[in-house]
Formats: sequence, structure tokens, C-alpha cells
Amino acid sequence: MKEAKKILITGGAGFIGSHVVRLFVKKYPHYHIYNLDKLTYAGNLANLRDTEKEKNYTFIKGDIVDAGFTDELFSSYRFDAVIHLAAESHVDRSIVSPMEFIRTNITGTVNLLNAAKNLWNESKYEDVLFYHISTDEVYGSLGTSGLFTEESPYSPRSPYAASKASSDHLVRAYHHTYGIPAVISNCSNNYGPCQFPEKLIPLTINNIKNNKPLPVYGKGENIRDWLYVEDHASAIDLVFHKGKPGETYNIGGENEWKNIDLVKLLCSIMDKKMSRPEGSSASLITFVKDRPGHDIRYAIDASKIHKELSWSPAGGFRENIEKTIDWYLSNEQWLKDVTSGDYQKYYEQQYTHR
Ligand code: NAD
Ligand code: TYD
Repeated sequence: MKEAKKILITGGAGFIGSHVVRLFVKKYPHYHIYNLDKLTYAGNLANLRDTEKEKNYTFIKGDIVDAGFTDELFSSYRFDAVIHLAAESHVDRSIVSPMEFIRTNITGTVNLLNAAKNLWNESKYEDVLFYHISTDEVYGSLGTSGLFTEESPYSPRSPYAASKASSDHLVRAYHHTYGIPAVISNCSNNYGPCQFPEKLIPLTINNIKNNKPLPVYGKGENIRDWLYVEDHASAIDLVFHKGKPGETYNIGGENEWKNIDLVKLLCSIMDKKMSRPEGSSASLITFVKDRPGHDIRYAIDASKIHKELSWSPAGGFRENIEKTIDWYLSNEQWLKDVTSGDYQKYYEQQYTHR
């Protein structure tokens, strides 16, 4: 690919996207990074305050579900590559309102693929790349043993997982049918700064901080494989630059935790950090009705990306979870704004459609 690339990153105001945008803007000053984001409840430009003034960064507010908009965007900016993260991302919301997931995750992805195909077809798909960011949830649920590999059959079981599986299939179909150079990575659960406090780790931290009940679904026996968000961003950097078009890469932390053990760990670290008597946060744990169709266990075999692209997570779990807690404790205003929705009112005044 050429040196001075124009890269479209979608969903760059969200949790993972903001870490990817920051990494690319700082590490590759010869690229221009365009961050396209609708700024839904999960998108917050405060996540990129340290990056927004950089010369090689442009924010574009827009909705990937609007095909007229995505077509016009690609013909005016003529991107060389896309890193596609924009999505509705929370399983519980997908159970309550699946249609938003169908629209953004499926229709939105196809709109981007069509816009990329129309633009890149002119140059016979030379020096371009469509990189789709996906989840391990497309593979379904594991029992007590085994790991998801790139060959695991798809078996999505929540509307979120089904919408991501569908978008993965469409990206592969556009690669095979039209020849769009495309690569996909499927990652395990992420944690770290700037994650909206509806997912397990930031929700638990926020509730401990505010002395609110800590909801644990069912018996808390379900298992997730947790990866620090900056390790995911470094894997995305490697896949983008060294991954082979047509290939899939699984990314995971090799770091499995039962939900209840993880919540207890957060409680004990936060008791110390907040100088509360040991056991006071754990007394907030409340077992609640299980999530419908709750997947038992996710765990990734990341040996392909380890071997082929020499990727490994940089730090240890304990160190990164402490960093994450410290970030939430010292960013009280961020938490207040996202839980009250104030950040959206502010940015609605600052930015209009393009
Ligand atoms: P997030 O919910 O924090 O952010 C999603 C971003 O997409 C937000 O900024 C939102 O405003 C934007 N967006 C939503 N709908 C849009 C639309 N119609 N048009 C334009 N922008 C829109 O999500 P996240 O946790 O950062 O996840 C990012 C990607 O990584 C998703 O594709 C998700 O499926 C995938 N993923 C997430 C995890 C995880 O643990 N969070 C793990 C594996 C893969
Ligand atoms: P979540 O962070 O929503 O990620 P995902 O469902 O995509 O894996 O949930 C992680 C695990 O924690 C999952 O097994 C559901 C469970 N969970 C709770 O027990 N309580 C909660 O309040 C939340 C949000 C999740």
C-alpha cells in the first residue's frame, strides 16, 4: 500500500475505536485518519480530546446506515483503507431492541462495502484494504473445555452475535465475489479506559464507587476471556499492516475468568483503593435473573496471530485491571457525563452532519 494513506476508521469515538484512532494518529503521522462516527450513546468525543487537534486527524459525524451518505463520503474523500469498528455492541441491548443491531451492524457494513467496492473498482482493488473488526461471540458458546480457532463453525446465539456473524459473512462474500481485499479479526472481551459503564467491568467499578448493587447474572459461573484494550489496538495495528487479505485472525487474552471471581477481584482491589473495610464492596454483590440465552464460556486460541504476526499482549492482567480502575476513579466527570447523557447534548451543538 502507498506511504501516505487516507484511512477511514468507523466507530472511532467508541471504546475500542478511540484507542485505535489514537494509536494510528500518533504512530503514523504520514497517514490521515478520518474518524466516522454517529455519536450514539456509546460514542463520546471526549475519549479523543488529546488527539483531536492533530493535523492528520479529521472527525466526521455520520450514520453508516445511510447509503447516500456513505457513497458520497467515499467519492469525496477517496479513502485507501477502512478499519470498521462502528457497531451496536452490547448483548443486553440487542435482546431488548434487535433492529438497531440489524441496521447498524449488517446494513451499515454492507453500505461501507458497497461504497468501497464502487471506489476501489476503478483502480482494480490495488493497494486498498477493508479491515472488519469482529467478536468471538460469532462462534457461539463453549463448554468447560476447548478454545475457538479460526476454523470453529459459526453459531451465534444472541441478536448481537448474529448481526456480527452476518457482517463477517458479508465481508467474506465481497472479498470472494468482487475481489475486495478484506481481512477480519475476531476478538474476546475487552476492558480498559473509556468503556461505557454498561459492560461488566466498568459497570461493576462504577457501582462499587457509588455504593450501588453489583448485578451478577445467574450464578456468576459464566466465563469470559478478557483482553486489555490497548493490546487489542496493537493487534489491530499488526493485522492492518501484516495480515493477509482473505484471512481471519483470532485475538484473545488467554485470560479466562468466571464472572463472580472477576467481580470479587474488582471488589477487593477497590476496597483497598477507596480505603473501605475489606469485604464492604463484596457485600453489594446481588445475584439477579440470568440473561436469556446466556453463553456459558468464550475462550480464544490466539496461536495464529502469535505465530504469524508475532503479537502478544504487553502487560499482565492485574496491572491492567488496576490501571483501568485508576482511570475510572480519576475520571469522575467522564463517568457523570456518560451516565447522564450530557456529553451528547454538548457535541450536538459542536458538530453538525459533516
Ligand atoms: P462501542 O459501543 O463502545 O462503540 C461503537 C461506536 O460505533 C460508537 O462510537 C458509536 O457512536 C458508533 N456507531 C454506532 N452506530 C453507528 C452508526 N450507525 N454509524 C456510525 N457510527 C456508529 O463499541 P466497542 O466496544 O468499542 O466495539 C467496537 C467494535 O469492536 C465493534 O464492532 C464490536 O463488535 C467489536 N468488538 C468489541 C469487543 C468488546 O469487548 N467491546 C470485543 C470484540 C469485538
Ligand atoms: P458483558 O460485559 O455484557 O459482555 P458480553 O456479554 O459481550 O460477554 O458481560 C460479560 C459477562 O458478565 C457476561 O457473562 C454477562 C455478565 N454480566 C453480569 O453478570 N452482570 C452484568 O451487569 C453485566 C452487564 C454482565
